[in-house]
Amino acid sequence: MIQLPYFDAILAACRHDETDVIRSFGDNVHWGYWDDPTAADGSVDDFVLASDAMTRKVCAAAGIRDGLTVLDAGCGFGGTVASINARFERMTLTGLNIDPRQIARARHNVAARPGNTIDFVVEDACQLPFADRSFDVVMAVECIFHFPSRLRFLREARRVLRPGGALMVSEFVAPARTFARLVLAGLPNLRTIQGFYGDDIPIPPSSYQVLARLARLGLPTVLDISRNVLPTFPVVLDLVDKFPIGERGQRSARFATELIARMSERGWMRYQVFTFRAPGAAPSNHRKDRP
Ligand SMILES: C[S@@+](CC[C@H](N)C(=O)[O-])C[C@H]1O[C@@H](n2cnc3c(N)ncnc32)[C@H](O)[C@@H]1O
Repeated sequence: MIQLPYFDAILAACRHDETDVIRSFGDNVHWGYWDDPTAADGSVDDFVLASDAMTRKVCAAAGIRDGLTVLDAGCGFGGTVASINARFERMTLTGLNIDPRQIARARHNVAARPGNTIDFVVEDACQLPFADRSFDVVMAVECIFHFPSRLRFLREARRVLRPGGALMVSEFVAPARTFARLVLAGLPNLRTIQGFYGDDIPIPPSSYQVLARLARLGLPTVLDISRNVLPTFPVVLDLVDKFPIGERGQRSARFATELIARMSERGWMRYQVFTFRAPGAAPSNHRKDRP
């Protein structure tokens, strides 16, 4: 799906100058991360900080540091690229997204600092328009579930990664032991959920061991931050009323979000960060920060 319904809603809110939506989802379009979820206060200010904390968390999991060549696949409005650009030096950054409207906003909002370069491209993450071995790090922040095939993306990421390079994927997964409950609760409401969030089906986290083998990547390290993202839901529920998508659209978005919130609170859906390594050792001469 090239134009996701929730992005239509966010872009419409941007056109209507809905400040809270713009502050919450105008740069990053991902969940927040709270070190201490009990300290979340449900405000937009708090969410903006938590969204930035999530960006930092996934960048740390990807091993972002000065001098790297980084691809952010499914880059949204370029919030992750903007954060890396602001915090690191001698970076060669590429954001890639299938939706040209999002790339237009990213190009408008994000400019490279001196010493860094930034390129935003419209393309499918499963058909990367890059040469083999051209990146030190590939990231996919909360987007792989939208891609046409997780396996095709992992294979493409491995192809464009240099030996020893890192692939970070953050994703909603459904543990095998509660998968049946998730399906039973979700299936009758699938059309409503898909009508706002798009047609994604979560997979069990253990599938990533198999996918890694098939894509010839190393087995991933896994960070489970399910508890740390839960305070996102009340904030999104408050924002739903500000999406200019009509009363019916708002009702569906609220219902879909409440359902996903309940599934997440019960642990049927979890939030995990996977970091894979491309085979081989990183050569010592390809990084700009090395002599
Ligand atoms: C939840 S948003 C995450 C955006 C961004 N990573 C962030 O954290 O702000 C999911 C993103 O995946 C993008 N996407 C969906 N399918 C895609 C595909 N096949 N190739 C590239 N991007 C895709 C969407 O356009 C959207 O920007």
